Parts: sequence; structure tokens; C-alpha cells
Amino acid sequence: MRIAVVGSGYVGLVSGTCFADFGHVVTCIDSDEAKIEALNKGVMPIYEPGLDHLVANNTAAGRLLFTTDLAAAVSQAEAVFIAVGTPSRRGDGHADLSYVYAVARDVARNVKGFTVVVTKSTVPVGTGDEVERIIRETNPEADVAVVSNPEFLREGAAIEDFKRPDRIVVGIEDERARAVMTEVYRPLYLNKAPLVFTARRTSELIKYAANAFLAMKITFINEIADLCEAVGSNVQDVAHGIGLDNRIGGKFLHAGPGYGGSCFPKDTLALVKTAQDHGSPLRLIETTVAINDQRKRAMARKIVRAMGGDVRGRTVALLGLTFKPNTDDMRESPAISIVQGLQDAGARVRAYDPEGMEAAKAVVSDVAFGPDPYSIAEGVDALVLVTEWDAFRALDFPRLRLMMNDPLFIDLRNVYRRELIARHGFRYVSIGRPDEDITAALSTAAE
Ligand SMILES: NC(=O)c1ccc[n+]([C@@H]2O[C@H](COP(=O)([O-])OP(=O)(O)OC[C@H]3O[C@@H](n4cnc5c(N)ncnc54)[C@H](O)[C@@H]3O)[C@@H](O)[C@H]2O)c1
Repeated sequence: MRIAVVGSGYVGLVSGTCFADFGHVVTCIDSDEAKIEALNKGVMPIYEPGLDHLVANNTAAGRLLFTTDLAAAVSQAEAVFIAVGTPSRRGDGHADLSYVYAVARDVARNVKGFTVVVTKSTVPVGTGDEVERIIRETNPEADVAVVSNPEFLREGAAIEDFKRPDRIVVGIEDERARAVMTEVYRPLYLNKAPLVFTARRTSELIKYAANAFLAMKITFINEIADLCEAVGSNVQDVAHGIGLDNRIGGKFLHAGPGYGGSCFPKDTLALVKTAQDHGSPLRLIETTVAINDQRKRAMARKIVRAMGGDVRGRTVALLGLTFKPNTDDMRESPAISIVQGLQDAGARVRAYDPEGMEAAKAVVSDVAFGPDPYSIAEGVDALVLVTEWDAFRALDFPRLRLMMNDPLFIDLRNVYRRELIARHGFRYVSIGRPDEDITAALSTAAE
């Protein structure tokens, strides 16, 4: 099958490459010439484990092509995937659909023969109707079926997620699209990944409902973590204790500094707006958004408190900046609010991230970056683990102890056990787990 993918970012590039790996002939298109030029030289525009090899193999096999020429690729394709960005619109939080609509117009002008146009970008309910209207208006001769096929991959595990999805959701209004989409995903279907066909508007909502639910689950455990700190319980044990219940499930119950990334923040906001516009507000999600926004900033206050309340002129080193490990994506990362909060309080900030420092430079300022955890720890008053990269899971604490001015380790991801850190002479502060202060306060209260 011949497939065109418009937009070669995280989703478009991974989807296109995996489709090629299934045996389809895929052309990935992007309007960013530098990105296409780099891809044609084998240079990946993003960090995603395993992607470079998969791209190299499929390019060598002649099944994967990169171009800025949408017209030629679309005219030959049986299925055209739209995978451009849908960021939050400035001012009101709605999804900005201008990129999707621009592609719809370009596609309309260039389709030949029956073509399935698939929206893979995350788009609000009703966008498929509008894409179809735009295509018919731009080219009344176009013979298209417009389909919704939201993507559920996670950055950092994108290839694995794409090739072994829990489900593939396909929203159709034109029965002719069913056979084409079944053929596109046939290799996965044979591997027993359920292919779920729904109406198009339902499929669009499934994506937002899934992300909103996950964001809510994270926010729930984050609030429980705050309560744990107040009452002297351990959030990891609470998460374990509730997660063993199959109705709840153990995933997405890791307390931390709040969710970030290119999806949850913008998708929860867009869903809230859609619901309000339709007179059916989602109060749980509105509250989730508000709690999460406040939480990111609250993490800076937590650090300041742990440092005794006055950080003016003192130095804090951050380990990890990306919103999660194994990606270079800094979009909406909690680290941004943490850096700003610390700087506002007068602290100097240093940081190291294995892959995210280039992207970080565009969103934070006055941060001194170093090439590894130890280079930024010299003389600092606190070391803060912000993102749980594997590289931070076995730090050399005796070495750090000798370098740091004040041996304070703040673990915003609960990677370590307090006994281990304390053994090396550190004060240890984490999320939702009893620390010395709380235990002492509780025993005083009990007396
Ligand atoms: N990143 C994720 O983990 C993820 C997961 C699931 C769904 N999504 C959704 O997928 C969509 C894409 O997200 P992303 O993270 O891949 O975005 P991205 O910003 O990484 O990539 C989008 C690409 O589209 C290109 N583009 C924009 N306009 C174009 C045009 N007119 N013609 C050709 N190319 C154009 C841009 O140059 C860019 O390379 C979004 O709707 C997002 O919500 C993302």
C-alpha cells in the first residue's frame, strides 16, 4: 500500500517509519526543509530510542522516503495521514487547528482516485467533519473518505507502543475506509491488537477522554502524596495498595512534580474548552488542570522550604529537565516552572539533562548547564532529581557528598530510599513519603 504522512514530527515520523517497516511504501512529508534535509542524510530531528535504526533500514529498503513535495506524494497515495501539530491556541486554550486545515486544503488539491484521508493528530470532536467540508469545498471532484485514527504512543517508547498497541481506534463515516484501514494495520491486527471501529466523532473523543483520564489519575496520586506528607503515610505504599486492585491498576500512580509534555497539558485544556462550549462542563478535568498548574510551581516552593526558606544567592543543581526520561521534549515540562520559581526566589540554577539541554535552552534562561551530574554539583546547596533518567538511578553519593556545599538531596520522583541517601550523610526530601521532619513532628504531636 502507498501511504503519505504529512508532518514528520514525533508522531508522523514514528508512524511513517513503522508503516514502512510493516511493508508499506511510505512518503513522510514536512514543510520544514531543514528537517527533511536532515532526515535524507540519516540525521534524526528528535531523540527517540531505536528510531534511527528503523529509519535507516527502511530507507535502505526503498520503502521510506522524505520530501517537502506534498503534491507528488499525495497524488500517489491510497491513504494520507495528517500528523501535524495541534498546539494550544494562544489566549483561549482551544486546539489550534490551522495546521490541520492547511494540510486538508493541500491534500484536497492533490488527491487522485479514491483516497482515505486520516487525521492522526489529536483533534477536537467535529474536526473530521470540518476537514471533510474543507476538502469538498477546495476540490469538489475529490473522492475521499475522511477518517479519525488517534495516536496513543508515548514518547520514549514510541516504536514499541506503535508496534504493540493496546488498541487501534478508527472512526469512520464512509464504509469504504474500513477495508483500507484494515489493510494499513493488518500486521498489527494479525498480532491480535484490537482494531476498534467507531463513528468518527466517537473516535475523536476517545483520544481526549483517554488522556484526560490518565492526567486525572496522575493528579489524584499527586494530591494523595500531599496528604501523605501531612499525615505521615507513604504514597508509594498507598499506590501499591490501591494499584493491585484490577479495577484501579498500578500504572500512572507515581507521585511526582506534575504532568507535562506535549500532550496532557494541551489536550486536557482543549477538552475542557470543548465541553464548556457544548454546555456540558467537565469539572473533574477543569480541577485536574488547575491542580497540575499549581503543583509545578509548588515544587519550587518545596525546594526552597527544604533549603530552609531563604535561597537568595544560593545554588541549586537540577538533574533532568525533560518532562519524562528518554525524550528530548521540553514542552510544558515541570522543570520550566521549577527553574523560574527558584530564580524568582533568588537562587542560582545549574542543570544537566542527558538529551534535553538543547531544547531547554529555548525555554529557560540564566541556567548554567554542565556535561554530567557531577560537573554541576560542585559547591551547590541542593541537588534536585527532577526527571528519572536511568543515568540518575545509581549516583555516586560519596563523591557528591565531597563536592556539595550542603548535602541536601531532593528527589521529586521517589527514585531512592531515604535510608540509602541518609547513610551517605545527606538530608533527603521526597514526594509523599515520611521524612525525618514529619516523623519528628508526629511524635511531638503524639506526646
Ligand atoms: N508527541 C506525542 O507523544 C503525541 C502522542 C499522540 C498524539 N500526538 C498528537 O500528534 C500530533 C502531532 O504531534 P507531534 O508531537 O508529532 O508534533 P511535532 O510538532 O513534533 O510535529 C509536527 C510536524 O508537522 C510539521 N508541519 C506543520 N505544518 C505542516 C504542513 N502544512 N505541511 C507539512 N508539515 C507540516 C511541522 O514542521 C512538524 O515537523 C498532535 O496533534 C499531537 O497532539 C502526539
